[in-house]
Amino acid sequence: MLWINPQYRGAMALSELELQFHDILDAEARLYRFAPLLGELFEEAAPAHGIIESELLDIPELRQQLMAEAGINADGGRLLIKGDHNLPVAGSIKARGGIYAVLRYAEALALKHELIDYSDNYRRLGEKKAREFFSRYTISVGSTGNLGLSIGIISAKLGFTVKIHMSADAKAWKKALLRSLGVTIIEHTGDYGAAVEQGRLEAEGNPYAFFVDDENSVDLFLGYAVAALRLKNQLTARGIAVNEHHPLMVYLPCGVGGAPGGITFGLKHVFGDAVHCFFAEPVESPCMTLGLLTGKHDKISVYDIGLSNRTIADGLAVARPSAFVGRMIQGIISGTFTVTDARLEENVRLARTLEQLKLEPSATAGFQGPQWLLQTEPGRDYLRRHGLENAELIHILWTTGGRYLPE
Ligand SMILES: Cc1ncc(COP(=O)(O)O)c(C=O)c1O
Repeated sequence: MLWINPQYRGAMALSELELQFHDILDAEARLYRFAPLLGELFEEAAPAHGIIESELLDIPELRQQLMAEAGINADGGRLLIKGDHNLPVAGSIKARGGIYAVLRYAEALALKHELIDYSDNYRRLGEKKAREFFSRYTISVGSTGNLGLSIGIISAKLGFTVKIHMSADAKAWKKALLRSLGVTIIEHTGDYGAAVEQGRLEAEGNPYAFFVDDENSVDLFLGYAVAALRLKNQLTARGIAVNEHHPLMVYLPCGVGGAPGGITFGLKHVFGDAVHCFFAEPVESPCMTLGLLTGKHDKISVYDIGLSNRTIADGLAVARPSAFVGRMIQGIISGTFTVTDARLEENVRLARTLEQLKLEPSATAGFQGPQWLLQTEPGRDYLRRHGLENAELIHILWTTGGRYLPE
């Protein structure tokens, strides 16, 4: 299904939100402060001097295939991939928020205990003294896999004690990778929501414990939002103008909503009404769609409407959306659509054979976005209402995980 958001008000909705553009700039500045340290700690981050960013990719073969399948003619628009599947260090979109949230916590601790001040080179936080200090603190998180990977990798590297609560969906290779770094994994037989709840309870009231709350975290949200500033620079560097005649149509895989929500928030601040964001969810786990269209946010789950929350898209296997994110994006998200497991498998295969991209199923959830928009009546109506029928659309498929996927 395609759902067009009747509450969409565009960039004008931004002024009423509790977070503003300066919050994104603050997050970006923090990432710059940490860049020298990250460049030193992670070989993969060294070439970009500690700035963890993905590429904007041309995908001529895949474009041709997806457009042809959808019956869209050659002028259906430009189609690019924003390749977060290949983000250095943690290999998924969750690296943006997860790494940022841990750095923010580490910075706050280090400033409070006078390990550094703002004028220092943060490389000092990689020294033995800092590692010993951080080891007294425990960072924990509940995850379907990728957030656990990103938080586990950065926290372990800084010296923190790390505990990751994994839902039943989490893939064995993600757990094995973390265990090899000395991270404690707690395996849950329940779904993502149960894993998060358990982690939250455990950390409560402990001053030496920091629980990164995927359902409610402002830090995660702002870490994701910084992606918009980076994308703008990449488009500018390529000479791609974004305006009402050349709008960005962005398709983002959605689980609990933090990653696509934060990025949408950032994109709206940067591109205003020249960007239109759509979330993609599995047919059995459309939690954000359900939360938004009923207005019930986390007070309703996909189980309540008879769905199973079973999908090969492990990163998107979430039954109940983040209420915090739902409220933040209610006025700025254009719509959502769903995708079947069979289609995800086909998308993974196409990306691999046509463009040599290694993607996990979740990462390909947005591939049918242009088709939903251009080939359905509600999609075309959306374009008409926003004066986009004759615009030169720039479609961006946001791919979200896969770098460390075993062969
Ligand atoms: C590969 C991948 N894509 C997308 C998402 C969606 O992010 P969120 O749960 O913040 O909506 C996740 C979440 O773990 C993921 O692992």
